[in-house]
Amino acid sequence: MPDTVPGLDLADQPTGYEALTAWWAHMRDHAPVRRDRALGHWHVFRYADAVTVLTDHETWSSDLRSLVRQPEQFAIVARGAFNGFDPPDHRRLRGLVSKAFTPRVVAELEPVVRRITRDLLDAARGEREVELIDALAYPLPLAVIAELMRVPLTDRERFRRWADALFYQGRGDDPVIVPTEEMLLSVEPLIGEMNAYFLDVIAERRRRPGDDLISGLVLAEDGGQRLADEEVLGVCGFLLVAGHITTTMVLGNAVHLLATRPDAAAALRAEPAAIPAAVEEVLRLRGQLPATARRATRDAELGGFLIPEGDVVLVWVASANLDERRFPDADRFRPDRSPNQHLALGRGIHFCIGAPLARLEQRVALEELLAAWRDFRLGDGVEFVDPRQAIGLRRLPIRPVWADHRRPR
Ligand code: HEM
Repeated sequence: MPDTVPGLDLADQPTGYEALTAWWAHMRDHAPVRRDRALGHWHVFRYADAVTVLTDHETWSSDLRSLVRQPEQFAIVARGAFNGFDPPDHRRLRGLVSKAFTPRVVAELEPVVRRITRDLLDAARGEREVELIDALAYPLPLAVIAELMRVPLTDRERFRRWADALFYQGRGDDPVIVPTEEMLLSVEPLIGEMNAYFLDVIAERRRRPGDDLISGLVLAEDGGQRLADEEVLGVCGFLLVAGHITTTMVLGNAVHLLATRPDAAAALRAEPAAIPAAVEEVLRLRGQLPATARRATRDAELGGFLIPEGDVVLVWVASANLDERRFPDADRFRPDRSPNQHLALGRGIHFCIGAPLARLEQRVALEELLAAWRDFRLGDGVEFVDPRQAIGLRRLPIRPVWADHRRPR
């Protein structure tokens, strides 16, 4: 069997979501582990192989920093972006962040998330058509993070530019997973602006700590060790992007799925207790992350191939979540699916640290939307993001039938 197959070069990959899922299904059946010719990366498509890579962090490193020279301002943020670290650095940073970002901090956010959601829905109340991304899915997680960090919402526009710059890393419409130095340089000034902003906030919180996340990060201590300013800054920048656009995409996907399945929307409206399971199914079927990268720390066997030390492996998480070998009826939206051990929030030591917040935001937003709208359907002009970068929507026009009465606050 050749170790490369045609159609795996990034430039040849299908661009639309439907075509991409058909291609994943083909690869799961016929070439579950393969190497592409253009970049020499390996691609992993099946659930079982994805779990193998994600859970064996000793063989599959998350540290890709040596692949591309990081411009200075990115390198500063990277000091706190612990998703790209291996143990022991990963353990140290994740441990310190966990001390500030506890389940209690998240649980206490529920009324805040609800208030922000209601305010955003109120601002659109009565409209015949609501563009859901701009009206709710984008601003909600941004406002929640601003609240967590206790930074003024008036800085929202700047946050938006920084989060986009960090997320897309200057890739524009180019689907490459690891951005080039040139791409990074194109957005570096924005990152410099963000770094200066956060360093000011951090200095202020060191002087006058409060009960916010940044103060928590500044004060977090482990065996007498604290985070350096640039690590706190890196964590802030990383949380801004990790906790924001991901949530935007998944919420858009949830509403898009429910708009095309009025039966499911009606069932959830009648029984809100079923919403958490539906959120898991949205994450499985339309999680935001198409793929995540790892690098072999030694020669390793995977799917019958020998992967040489140093090679990059792209784990197509979204393909794994559609693997019929693991999920019966895998491409159907079954809101009550159980068990549902998807990989949309990762697996292993890098499992999403924001998962409780992600789940809270999705649940509360859906509860509020379903209460505010008696019914809803898709409007015209739905636009998707390139699914090789993120699975989600850029524009989601919704035509709601507004409920007459508000629920009491
Ligand atoms: C629905 C929304 C979200 C999705 C789909 C999502 C998805 C993921 C995934 C797949 C990973 C693992 C990546 C890998 O192994 O390469 C991850 C890690 C991470 N996520 Fe999330 N996430 C979401 C929301 C959030 C939120 C709200 C926050 C925080 C405010 C957050 C913070 C993080 C952090 C810090 C990591 C790195 C963890 C580590 O490396 O130890 N995420 N997320």
